[in-house]
Amino acid sequence: MDSIGLLDSGVGGLSVLRHVQTLLPQENLIYVADQAHVPYGPRPAAEVQAFSRSITRFLLAQGAKLIVVACNTASAAALTDLRQTFPDVPFVGMEPAVKMGAAATRSGKVGVMATAGTFESQRYASLMHRFAQDVQLYQNPCRGLVELIEAGQTESAATAVLLQELLSPMLAAGIDTLILGCTHYPFVLPLLQTIVGPDVTIIDPAPAVARQVKRVLQSHNALTASGSGAVQAYTTGDAHTFAILAQQLLQTSLVTTGLHWTANGALSLNG
Ligand code: DGL
Repeated sequence: MDSIGLLDSGVGGLSVLRHVQTLLPQENLIYVADQAHVPYGPRPAAEVQAFSRSITRFLLAQGAKLIVVACNTASAAALTDLRQTFPDVPFVGMEPAVKMGAAATRSGKVGVMATAGTFESQRYASLMHRFAQDVQLYQNPCRGLVELIEAGQTESAATAVLLQELLSPMLAAGIDTLILGCTHYPFVLPLLQTIVGPDVTIIDPAPAVARQVKRVLQSHNALTASGSGAVQAYTTGDAHTFAILAQQLLQTSLVTTGLHWTANGALSLNG
């Protein structure tokens, strides 16, 4: 089966999947959530690299023709390694949209929400160097936010309190632009917008990533011309729990199959 593979530590990459699906409804999509290891943010880069490599092998075995690393943390840790390890595979990665944020701000003050792993990466240092010379960035590694979203708490009081705490210093500093540098965060967009108010522009790079997927497929002559694609999800966590959460987040049901990590670090189907 000719598909687009997507990977993330959990449900975050579904915020990318929905845009890919809207733009390319004829494509089959395969999604892997590594919920056995979520969150990736606090983990060493080498560990995230090893997970990403194994998930890529699994996706290729399922017939993926392109892989979207739908996770900023995994892209920061592993994208270069993945491109070297699988030189014939087209990859599309994610990074905090610092360039877009710098272009959008009028106050010159931009907030960035991402994970510790992303902020500590060379890839992020290079983004700051290239695009943020003339703007002030206010960063927050958002400890605990991915866990709340994984628990389905996209609108809970606890999530509102945490977001308020994370954003207060940025708002006090006068940001007018907020970059969502983790694919989990678009799922709390309504709450975020309420907290920051209508004058702060929130940037979710997922639509741009979906357009990039289309461009890359086009350049490889690999776009599916017609038909209606299917979506298959896999998780290294509990498949039933994932399906319920995916339904809540996407308002559509996803066929989900359980996977497990084998002793030699590969992914295998349950059962
Ligand atoms: N969704 C991920 C990202 O874009 C990872 C979150 C995590 O597992 O810490 O960074």
